[in-house]
Amino acid sequence: MRTETPPIIRLADYRPSDYLIDRVELDVRLHPTETRITATLALRPNPKGEAGAPLVLDGDELTLLALDLDGQPPAPGAVEVQPRALVLHQPPRRPFTLAIETQVNPSANTKLMGLYRSGGVYCTQCEADGFRRITYFLDRPDVMAVYTTRIEADLEEAPVLLGNGNPGQAGPAGEGRHYAVWHDPHPKPAYLFALVGGRLGRVATRFTTMEGRDVEIAVYVEPGKEPRAPYALDAVARSMAWDETAFGRPYDLDVFNVVAVSDFNMGAMENKGLNIFNDKYVLASPDTATDADYANIEAIIAHEYFHNWSGNRVTCRDWFQLCLKEGLTVFRDQEFSSDARSRPVHRIAEVRTLRARQFPEDAGPLAHPVRPQAYREINNFYTATVYEKGAEIVRMLRTLLGPGAFRGGMDRYFAACDGTAATVEDFLAAFAAESGRDLAAFARWYAQAGTPTVAVSGRHDPAARTYTLAFRQSLPTVVTEAASGAAPLPLVIPVALGLVDPGGGAVAGRSDRVRDGVFVLEAEEDSLVFTDVDAAPVPSLFRGFSAPVKVAHALTPAERLALLSHDSDPFNRWQAAQSLGLEAILSRVRAGAPQAEEAGPRGEALSRALAAFLDAEALADPAFAALVLTLPGDQEAAQEIGTEVDPDAIHRARQTLRTHLGRDLAARLAALREALAEPPGAPFSPDAASAGRRALRNVALDLLAAADPGLGTRLAVAQVEAAATMTDRLAALAVLTLLPGEARERALAGFAEAYRDEPLVLDKWFAIQAAIPEPGTVARVRGLMEHPAFALGNPNRVRSLIGSFSLNNPTQFHRPDGAGYDLVAEAVRHLDGKNPQVAARLLTAFNNWRMVEAGRRQKAEEALRAVAAVTGLSPDVSDIVGRSLG
Ligand code: ARG
Ligand code: ZN
Repeated sequence: MRTETPPIIRLADYRPSDYLIDRVELDVRLHPTETRITATLALRPNPKGEAGAPLVLDGDELTLLALDLDGQPPAPGAVEVQPRALVLHQPPRRPFTLAIETQVNPSANTKLMGLYRSGGVYCTQCEADGFRRITYFLDRPDVMAVYTTRIEADLEEAPVLLGNGNPGQAGPAGEGRHYAVWHDPHPKPAYLFALVGGRLGRVATRFTTMEGRDVEIAVYVEPGKEPRAPYALDAVARSMAWDETAFGRPYDLDVFNVVAVSDFNMGAMENKGLNIFNDKYVLASPDTATDADYANIEAIIAHEYFHNWSGNRVTCRDWFQLCLKEGLTVFRDQEFSSDARSRPVHRIAEVRTLRARQFPEDAGPLAHPVRPQAYREINNFYTATVYEKGAEIVRMLRTLLGPGAFRGGMDRYFAACDGTAATVEDFLAAFAAESGRDLAAFARWYAQAGTPTVAVSGRHDPAARTYTLAFRQSLPTVVTEAASGAAPLPLVIPVALGLVDPGGGAVAGRSDRVRDGVFVLEAEEDSLVFTDVDAAPVPSLFRGFSAPVKVAHALTPAERLALLSHDSDPFNRWQAAQSLGLEAILSRVRAGAPQAEEAGPRGEALSRALAAFLDAEALADPAFAALVLTLPGDQEAAQEIGTEVDPDAIHRARQTLRTHLGRDLAARLAALREALAEPPGAPFSPDAASAGRRALRNVALDLLAAADPGLGTRLAVAQVEAAATMTDRLAALAVLTLLPGEARERALAGFAEAYRDEPLVLDKWFAIQAAIPEPGTVARVRGLMEHPAFALGNPNRVRSLIGSFSLNNPTQFHRPDGAGYDLVAEAVRHLDGKNPQVAARLLTAFNNWRMVEAGRRQKAEEALRAVAAVTGLSPDVSDIVGRSLG
């Protein structure tokens, strides 16, 4: 049987549900293979729906055991059980009750959607459409109900039973079983339902909200892992406090539970009062987690917690509105992390992610607007575009309106939409009302796919003492399934900017079109005149990355140096170094001399600039310095080249430049490592300052090794052995992976032995090996797929090994002989039968296949066509492969 491509669902076709569900009573009897669920639904016709329409409840892989309508078996012929629905013909035209008994097999659920088991723990994942895998339901976010859940399980197997909302009665249920009742007073869509049952360890704390509510916060983990839970627990408490001060949003239940499970498709899930997490984003100890892990845990804990308001109290009307909760909540977690850490350093990290993940998505066949207009499989739209570009739109809104009106607009939004399933229009209406501004043109950001380019040129007129900046925006025409590819309309682009004196003095120039440092570009073309400008300044544009655009602005190396040294905006100081680095890489590639001996004028300029920068201020802000010293990645250079890309040439150019920098800066880098060395026995802190010192030390090691592999090997081996933290150990091991030889293999083997019982640490070991830019890596990855610690059924393992290979190893994924493509395509085919969501995600690595040169392009296409030809593909993979080839 050949799978049909799933049908298209369109935003334009939205209509309200014909029925509503006010209350849900669930009785769940947990059993490893035969879990039984009785759902009692209080239904009524929706006045906004079609009167007398059949009731069509969604269902997926359910066994129906019993059905009751108002306490009676329904009339014969009134009920139709279809593969993916339960249809009740001519339901009552008044409120009625349906009692449905279903049976599911959690142990056989490898899709990890609905009710499944992870390491013996029963857990659920219902977003986007997993609740229909538990019972028949109106599984759409605009149907909101109050849930009461009784969970029953074997006491030995599942002593801990958790549900949404507040705990109610609990006790023995006979025959070694027990039960617990949970009641959630807040009406919610089914995708926010959750339950957990299992043997779990617990750490807890208390928090009193601004309203005086005493909340118990608990984090549940695998027994024995409790010592790794306090960081996440504290992050919950800090998130609760922050949402009160930053947005005036208090928590609204008596308990807040977080459960860590080891098998999870995504990062985490914001189920009401019961967040379920991938354990990678909960468990932390200095010996097992890197500084990046700590930062991710803090950010994701915050993200899921903030969803309680932006997602749960106000949810989405339909899945086209996904960015309404995700973009907004990413923006909120970014702000939280910026307050908790260093704002400029965090902003740079955000932009690096956006450029590495979202820009390529926006430039390839999977491009879609932040609010898509059509989809076949919604789980394929949890993308960098919806999340990260969605957050950038919220950020631009704040830049345009100013912090006061932005906060006022948020308050209005929460007040107006609390308890409802809302739309992007509702969101924007709150800000329009607050500010009195017309946001219709701004709303185009939600509807038009593709990354805009803003071309800028500056001209100084000494006689008139003016400086003129000419702007021109252009948007690629993106053809998607929904949109015809009509010419895009101009966007409203906030340009935060300033003029910098090349000598470091002050620039007097003024323009009354710049307010609070922001010029708003609304037309396709515009120009901005500054008066009272005596000498030619260097413009600093898009400060803080004020809009998610590409900037085409030709500056000389000297002008970039002026920005790196004198700009008051830290983001643009970093950007100046990045631009120099990118230009140096590109000029090598374009000259067809990626390995040229000489550094070239741009390479020289970069070396000199970095030397001066290190002398002046490396120790003032080590985290920032580490970022300044890090060259843009291969993918960013590939993106810039755009067509007929040769990943090997880019890689060689970048590596050679690193070698030059390492040689030129060797003495300084060695001194930095000394200056930043941690005294033996120093207490560990995961805070941003300590992490920044580790980061700079390890960037220094990396550059030193690029310049002198012998020295690099000695230093890295010593650091792997002596490291007091996973950050330092892994950084040194990663440096070693770039230095082929016996020392590397010994260090890798030793690491595997030391962490043989730590799956999350072995994931890091998988990931760095998969990224080795050598022809042997395909065979190495195939070998590691047979390693006892690897499991195709566990999403973290798959992402660490195969995901890392496809995303972090451009030269080997894009091998000219196609062996890299075949490896990933094969993994996708094997995985699809088990876990379609993860398989589909893996396949998105082919997103940029049209960008590579003809030989590779043909191999990539063959690999994609081989996937497309498989019979019985999941809707998830068939959607991605179809759009990738389309
Ligand atoms: N809402 C979750 C978050 O916080 C993501 C869940 C997505 N899950 C899925 N199967 N599509 O970002
Ligand atoms: Zn989210």
